[in-house]
Amino acid sequence: MNEKTVIHNAGSLNIDDVFRTTHIVRPGETIPSRTLDRYPGGKGLNQSTALARAGAAIRHIGKIGDDGVFLKEGLVADGADVSGIEVGEVPTGHAIIQVADDGENAIVLFGGANQAWDTTDIERVIGAAKTGDVLLMQNEINGMAELMERAAAAGMRLALNPAPMGPEVQNYPLEKLNWLVVNEIEGRELSGLDDSDELVVAELHRRFPDTVVVMTLGKKGAIRSDKNGVIHSSFPDVGPIVDTTGAGDTFMGYWLAGEVAGLEAEACLRRACAAGALAVTRPGATTGIPMLTEVEALL
Ligand code: RIB
Repeated sequence: MNEKTVIHNAGSLNIDDVFRTTHIVRPGETIPSRTLDRYPGGKGLNQSTALARAGAAIRHIGKIGDDGVFLKEGLVADGADVSGIEVGEVPTGHAIIQVADDGENAIVLFGGANQAWDTTDIERVIGAAKTGDVLLMQNEINGMAELMERAAAAGMRLALNPAPMGPEVQNYPLEKLNWLVVNEIEGRELSGLDDSDELVVAELHRRFPDTVVVMTLGKKGAIRSDKNGVIHSSFPDVGPIVDTTGAGDTFMGYWLAGEVAGLEAEACLRRACAAGALAVTRPGATTGIPMLTEVEALL
């Protein structure tokens, strides 16, 4: 049997404190929260969870403080390799999340240990990787440009979900990417175009012709573009929206797992949309990520 390609996720780990409110608080307003729950989170951790649940071989590399050791438990239970998660003196990243009755969210992020990466951490990523392995990144850790350069030079294939988007992303060596996944806002910011979804994706494809580009469109599904053309997939309606937190991470993990495993492009996009659709019907980021059997049952 062929060994699975390892996906190395150089990713954030956060403690998510989630407040359920009627609406997102406005400037100057004080509102009550019905509940307060603590979940494992961080775009990196969420995507590793989705990848593991989708059946990929995933190694998570990241940094936490003593306060975040519990974050490893869920990853281990899902079968991810957590030997690359280092516990140090800087406190764990922390997200304060409001989820409103319509499922929309607002997030305040404290980077903590996610922003304490140095060259030795980058070496920990590269040192354990083989040529052809995949490096997955989001935009919640520091040192991204150096990490991308060094991983590409080491023969890794690169996947980036530039979330949360910031102006610094334009200075990353994006031409080295094999896979780029953005949402509608990130796509418009990165392309510099405030136009139709199709034109935004076309512009990203023009800028990065060797990269598979995907843009997620919320309830409208997703568009995928590469040298072979453009395909769309819709988001199945599976029930009332409870919490949109982590839906993009669920999509990213399921989609990349499929791409790396060589799943046919349309099936891969459909499966990732189905996983994202299930995620928004459940509370929490990692707690909302479906198992592969549930996604297959939906399809
Ligand atoms: O994408 C959702 C994630 O964004 C949350 O889990 C939170 O930690 C922030 O990183």
